Amino acid sequence: MKLCMIGTGYVGLVSGVCFSDLGNDVICVDKDINKINNLKKGIIPIYEPGLEELVLKNYKNKRLNFSTNLKESVLKSDIIFICVGTPTKKNSNSADLTQVFSAGKEISKSINKYKIIITKSTVPLTTGDELEKIIAKKVKKKNFSVVSNPEFLREGEAIRDFIYPDRVVVGSNDVKSRRILKNLYSPLVSKGAKYLSTNRRAAELIKYAANAFLATKITFINEIANLCEKTEIDVEDISIGIGLDKRIGSRFLRAGPAYGGSCFPKDTKAIVSTAEKFKTNLSIIKNVIKSNNNRSDLLLKRLAYIMRNKVKNKNISFLGVTFKANTDDMRDSSSLKLIPYLSRKGAKIKYYDPTGFKKEFKNVKNVKFSNSIQESIKGSDLIIIHTEWNDFKSINFKKFSKNKKLIIYDMRNIFSPSKIKKLGLKYFGIGR
Ligand code: UGA
Repeated sequence: MKLCMIGTGYVGLVSGVCFSDLGNDVICVDKDINKINNLKKGIIPIYEPGLEELVLKNYKNKRLNFSTNLKESVLKSDIIFICVGTPTKKNSNSADLTQVFSAGKEISKSINKYKIIITKSTVPLTTGDELEKIIAKKVKKKNFSVVSNPEFLREGEAIRDFIYPDRVVVGSNDVKSRRILKNLYSPLVSKGAKYLSTNRRAAELIKYAANAFLATKITFINEIANLCEKTEIDVEDISIGIGLDKRIGSRFLRAGPAYGGSCFPKDTKAIVSTAEKFKTNLSIIKNVIKSNNNRSDLLLKRLAYIMRNKVKNKNISFLGVTFKANTDDMRDSSSLKLIPYLSRKGAKIKYYDPTGFKKEFKNVKNVKFSNSIQESIKGSDLIIIHTEWNDFKSINFKKFSKNKKLIIYDMRNIFSPSKIKKLGLKYFGIGR
């Protein structure tokens, strides 16, 4: 099939590349000339394991193309995916849909035969209805369908999530587009993905409800971890103990710092705001947002306890600063709260991240980037494991540090407390 992805951000690029790998002809469109020129040269704007290889392979065999010309690309395509950003509006909690609607307007100028227009960006309930009205101003109703087909890709695992999804959700209000999309996704269904066909609004809500539920699950275990810390229980036992119940499930029960990234913080706020428009109080999600916002303060209090309130002039090494492993994304990472706070308290911080230097800390006093784990750890009083990169799982602390009083604060519980204690070092984890 001939597909066009509008927006070559995370969602558009990964989905476009994967669709081309499944044998479709795909044009990825973006306004940003530099980005498009770089993509043509195989320079990838985001860090995502496996993406570069797939771009090069499919660009070379001409199934994947890049363009800045939206009009021409839409004319050539049967299915158009809108994959532009839907950030939180300034001074509000709702999603800013300016880019979605302006893409819709542009698309409507280039519809010469029946086309399906799909929102793949995370868009609030009823966005499809609005988009349909915008396109209908220029195009006869029989010549287009507006469909919601949310993505469930995780950063760092996006290629695998695309090829082996738990489910594909397609929300459409007409038979024709339903038939075409089922066909588009048949290669994934034949590999075992469940295919769920709903009406358009339901698909829009499924995306938000899924992210809000996952955020709730994480927040729940984080609060249980707080209780474990006071009662000499290891939260890992609780995660396993409840996760083995198939009704609960073991995934997304890893206690850690506050959840971050470009999705959970934004989408939890947006679903609450949408519900308010429909006079519905999503009190659980509201409390999840509040609890997650408070989480960094709680971790800082624990840090003060670990350091016996002596943070000034202490050397602290931060391992990993992104919101999670396998990404270079800093959006809403809890390190953005933790590091500046510790700097204000007079700590001397060195950080190492496998994805390199972060501009976010450029002007933060006494914060330096280290080129290696070893350099970051050297001379430290405290090591904070902030993200769960595999690179950190086998660090030989004794080899890298001569400090006999070294403290490890393992915010991802990647080490066995007893093994670290056997080394004679002090160990603190989350909820243990
Ligand atoms: C999330 C969803 O998992 C995807 O399904 C969804 O498609 C995506 O948002 C989106 O809406 O685009 P992502 O933000 O990439 O994906 O990252 P996650 O792996 O879900 O992690 C989010 C946050 O939760 C991170 O800060 C992570 O460290 C934290 N987390 C996750 C935990 O603290 N514990 C866990 O058990 C799992």
